[in-house]
Amino acid sequence: MEGPTSSPGERRAAVALLFTLLTCCVRCAEPRSKLSNIVLIVADDQDALLGGMNPMKYTKTMIGDAGATFVNSFTVTPLCCPSRSSILTGRYPHNHMVRNNSLSGNCSSAQWQKGPETATFPLYLSKQKYQTFFAGKYLNQYGHKDVGGIKHIPPGWDQWHALVGNSRYYNYTLSVNGREEKHGDNYEKDYLTDLITNRSLNFLDNRSPQHPFFMMLSPPAAHSPWTAAPHYQKSFPDIKAPRDGSFDKPGKDKHWLLRQPANPMKSSSLDFLDSVYKKRWQTLLSVDDMVMQLVKKLDSIKELNNTYIFYTSDNGYHTGQFSLPIDKRQLYEFDIKVPLMVRGPGIKANQTLQAPVLNIDLALTILDICGVNLSSVNMDGQSFLAQMAPSLRNGTARPFFLVEYTGEGSLSADPTCPSLGPGLSQCFPDCVCEDAYNNTYACVRTLDGKLDMQYCEFADSESFVEVYDLKADPHQLENIVKKVDPAVLQTMNQRLIKLQSCEGKTCRNIQAKLDKLN
Ligand SMILES: *[C@@H]1O[C@H](CO)[C@@H](O)[C@H](O)[C@H]1NC(C)=O
Ligand SMILES: *[C@@H]1O[C@H](CO)[C@@H](O)[C@H](O)[C@H]1NC(C)=O
Ligand SMILES: *[C@@H]1O[C@H](CO)[C@@H](O)[C@H](O)[C@H]1NC(C)=O
Ligand SMILES: *[C@@H]1O[C@H](CO)[C@@H](O)[C@H](O)[C@H]1NC(C)=O
Ligand SMILES: *[C@@H]1O[C@H](CO)[C@@H](O)[C@H](O)[C@H]1NC(C)=O
Ligand SMILES: *[C@@H]1O[C@H](CO)[C@@H](O)[C@H](O)[C@H]1NC(C)=O
Repeated sequence: MEGPTSSPGERRAAVALLFTLLTCCVRCAEPRSKLSNIVLIVADDQDALLGGMNPMKYTKTMIGDAGATFVNSFTVTPLCCPSRSSILTGRYPHNHMVRNNSLSGNCSSAQWQKGPETATFPLYLSKQKYQTFFAGKYLNQYGHKDVGGIKHIPPGWDQWHALVGNSRYYNYTLSVNGREEKHGDNYEKDYLTDLITNRSLNFLDNRSPQHPFFMMLSPPAAHSPWTAAPHYQKSFPDIKAPRDGSFDKPGKDKHWLLRQPANPMKSSSLDFLDSVYKKRWQTLLSVDDMVMQLVKKLDSIKELNNTYIFYTSDNGYHTGQFSLPIDKRQLYEFDIKVPLMVRGPGIKANQTLQAPVLNIDLALTILDICGVNLSSVNMDGQSFLAQMAPSLRNGTARPFFLVEYTGEGSLSADPTCPSLGPGLSQCFPDCVCEDAYNNTYACVRTLDGKLDMQYCEFADSESFVEVYDLKADPHQLENIVKKVDPAVLQTMNQRLIKLQSCEGKTCRNIQAKLDKLN
């Protein structure tokens, strides 16, 4: 702007202009420097209780040791599509109405698109001028031709790289900002976990630095078909599913579905679940690499100290518990507990936190961090910023919460297990069924420092009830419904009824009346 022949006056004017520009930049940058970036990584079917985090060395050091690890983090429903819908909306299934993984159960359905999807948390971030980026599995029915196909981009996302359908590692289709992108099975070009990593690094290189960013990364691991990257297919040669706790224990005092499996399990079931267990760990190594590369990139672009990173999973998983080979969908801890680690400004390193937190809390916690006025947001969860960063917020943990699940079945009998009849599903291996229409239940899970209890009612013809004292019996081996004080059962039943119809603030305001129980 300043030529070699300019006069001192011109030079002074130019310096003044430069000064003005600089101060403006500093001033304009101010609100931005206060708003932090957010990264949310949601793995698929990764358990917290059966060693699901063990293969993830980088994630444990670069997120866990650098911040907070929640040992009581739960999904409010242990199935992919309803859980992911809860993460996005901050709501219980009875409020977002996504019941299962089918269109008819509202998974990415037209009603979902018209209703709950127009109030997901990324939309609030977008209004706060965040640059938003999504890559990976969204909802199991996303991209279905009956509901807008790949052209449908949910509101709130600037960059959209979403998988059509359920988790895969190869041979899949993506919607890249509404454009179809087909992938084959060439590791270098197509391996989905690595592709998500690469696109997220790319996004960080090309972002506009004036605005904060939000990234949601949703890798297919550790979901079936458990295809590891070529260089990880020989990892963990000797690993087997853990044999402790409820492994291959009979579910004799549990609801009818849990009384069906052969006990002890067939050796073919054991071989199958051990092989799945190993392959799950192998697929997670690529997710661990994703975390490592992302943290390094954030460091190199000098954003790491202004970025919150959340690492979690949509639901837990089991491999042999109560003689069920492999799946989720059950009310027990192995299926409803999920990993959760968070690092970011104000979160002290190496914290292990006991406070119960839920997947419906992620949205409000993120909005809380991003300066959104939470009283204007109608969600069922609550921010847990106070739990991990008490210097930033005051707040107390909730004493109890709801877990609800609608069983999936099939109208016709599985041809490979015809004697079992209709109504069941997930009957493999060895015709052991993991789900049924009437595997429909609602539970109150209490964790208030004194009580550690679960109370569940089934919507089946027996109105079956299961109750566990997790302090005395952490593996839920004994259903104590017949031993427990009837007054306690009554209190639990009343709480359950209230929780099942709660909405927004009322979900937070249902207070414990624990007098009788203490
Ligand atoms: C957290 O704990 C790990 C393992 O004990 C240790 O190596 C690390 O230095 C600790 N980090 C901080 C910031 O205290
Ligand atoms: C699907 O959601 C709509 C509202 O979004 C609701 O009216 C409908 O009952 C839901 N369907 C099921 C099966 O729950
Ligand atoms: C991908 O699809 C091709 C063509 O149908 C098939 O030959 C190949 O085995 C598939 N690869 C994987 C990993 O499923
Ligand atoms: C991701 O990027 C790395 C490094 O550039 C490359 O080697 C790899 O092939 C890429 N993978 C995919 C699936 O794009
Ligand atoms: C991050 O680190 C840089 C220096 O590396 C510093 O200028 C900045 O204030 C830090 N930001 C936060 C939020 O701590
Ligand atoms: C999903 O929910 C809908 C609505 O309740 C139901 O009609 C359908 O059978 C369910 N799908 C499965 C696989 O159970």
